[in-house]
Amino acid sequence: MHADNWAQKAKSLGYRSRAVFKLIQITEKIKQIKNPNLILDIGAAPGGWSHYLANKYPSAEIFAIDILEMEQIKGVKFIQEDLRNIEKIDQLSSLKNKFNLVISDLAPNLSGISSIDEENILELNLLTLEGAIKFLDNNGIFIVKTFQNSNLKKFRKEMEKNLKIVQTAKPAASKKQSKEIYLYGIK
Ligand SMILES: C[S@@+](CC[C@H](N)C(=O)[O-])C[C@H]1O[C@@H](n2cnc3c(N)ncnc32)[C@H](O)[C@@H]1O
Repeated sequence: MHADNWAQKAKSLGYRSRAVFKLIQITEKIKQIKNPNLILDIGAAPGGWSHYLANKYPSAEIFAIDILEMEQIKGVKFIQEDLRNIEKIDQLSSLKNKFNLVISDLAPNLSGISSIDEENILELNLLTLEGAIKFLDNNGIFIVKTFQNSNLKKFRKEMEKNLKIVQTAKPAASKKQSKEIYLYGIK
């Protein structure tokens, strides 16, 4: 299906973004996701992923972080903060090693200068992974967006050092020409 059609489908189903289909297609592949009761969504705005998860798991407690504002979603506690400050977020301080699912669709603003963008993406990916390891419980699942570039192998190696069963996913709803790609693994 063309990207515009995913966008239309998202709208008709009342979702905030077509990104929701990427999450649906990735999670369909991960049999270990059972019934998460504590979920952290990093880089969450405008909220498609959080919204979908709040509907799918109505009894789960969901925290969502973004540097941008996000319109309220029932069942989601939104924190407007930079991922870089995740350790300083009071609401999360007692929740280390407790999350069943940490997801990140975070994407930095790109400068167009590939060497700068690639380093920036790697830095944010590594910080996201570091955060996920701290907040996930044992057997908790981490899903993260990254990009096909010269740092991908390096990031995947870091994922493999810290997590089990690391896999790659390129969901059908992700534009073919887009370099975005998702990795997931289990703590
Ligand atoms: C592709 S969007 C996420 C879409 C979301 N998954 C959805 O379904 O609506 C990427 C988000 O990452 C956020 N972001 C970028 N850098 C960030 C950072 N350092 N800390 C927190 N969020 C960040 C952006 O503000 C943006 O809202």
